[in-house]
Amino acid sequence: MKKLLLFFVVLLLCALLSACGAPGPVPEDKEQELTVVGFSQVGAESDWRNANTRSMQQALSAENGYRLIFDDAQQKQDRQITAIRNFINLGVDYIVLAPNTETGWDTVLAEARAAGIPVILVDRMIEVEDTDLFTCWIGSDFRKEGDTAVRWLEEHYGDAPLRIVHLQGNIGSSAQIGRTEGLDAGIARHPAWELAFRGSGDFTQAKGQEVMEALIRDHTDFNVIYCENDNMAYGVIDALKMAGLRPGEDAAIISFDANSAALRMILDGTISLDVECNPLHGPRVRAIIEQLQSGQTPAKFTYVEETAFDAANLTEAVIGERGY
Ligand code: AHR
Repeated sequence: MKKLLLFFVVLLLCALLSACGAPGPVPEDKEQELTVVGFSQVGAESDWRNANTRSMQQALSAENGYRLIFDDAQQKQDRQITAIRNFINLGVDYIVLAPNTETGWDTVLAEARAAGIPVILVDRMIEVEDTDLFTCWIGSDFRKEGDTAVRWLEEHYGDAPLRIVHLQGNIGSSAQIGRTEGLDAGIARHPAWELAFRGSGDFTQAKGQEVMEALIRDHTDFNVIYCENDNMAYGVIDALKMAGLRPGEDAAIISFDANSAALRMILDGTISLDVECNPLHGPRVRAIIEQLQSGQTPAKFTYVEETAFDAANLTEAVIGERGY
């Protein structure tokens, strides 16, 4: 009965929300059997994010037995809170949240809990008083990613003087916090490493380029650029080239995500290191839902395996297999 009511409401919501996860209409008798999942996505700020959205849409498709209600929050937490409230009103079976920032979730997640809807977190972490407000989390160890980048700098430059430009992601997100903490710890250990500039590019190519262009107007005395994602790195690279500087030669570029386009830039020497951040969470979330449906308890916290690429270990085969 609940599913029948949901069918009509979900159809209406799909028209209202920015995009709907199912590729086409599903016959009414099948529709009623689908597991309904509301997915609040951060936005579409990066290639990583778009790969993550595709992964979720493919895994939670009608063919696989799901009706995915997708909401793009355009990197705004208040939009995510509204989306979650909509999902609660609809009585979805599960809520999946990729949180923009870490704090500010207690109230709305308490509402989801009161409604009896399990909340699965993906990608970034949240900070809440009571971790029972969510069922489980799966994502990246962003601090470890930052530490990996710093270890590479240590191996390649040791205690040589470094003047580091640091492009941060959106402030308050786990990805920004962890990668920034890693760099700060490295700088604290190496007196010859200096932070020449720090600013946020919001994880977007356009903002990364804008911030870098403004910086280059007055300063070019840096030799490392630490970009907290690939899209900001693309913007930085364009800004450097337009200013007549040579990315990879005048300054080493460190990036995060390891999208295939960025990995190609390692092969041509533009990017020096790319620390992987894995966006393919769709099948993992589906496995969690299947566990819950069969009465099992998924692990509360699951970190995905990630690596890092530079000219020494990257091959064409790695890029060919990437798929994003
Ligand atoms: O949370 C993962 C980060 O968010 C990725 O590094 C970035 O590209 C995305 O926007």
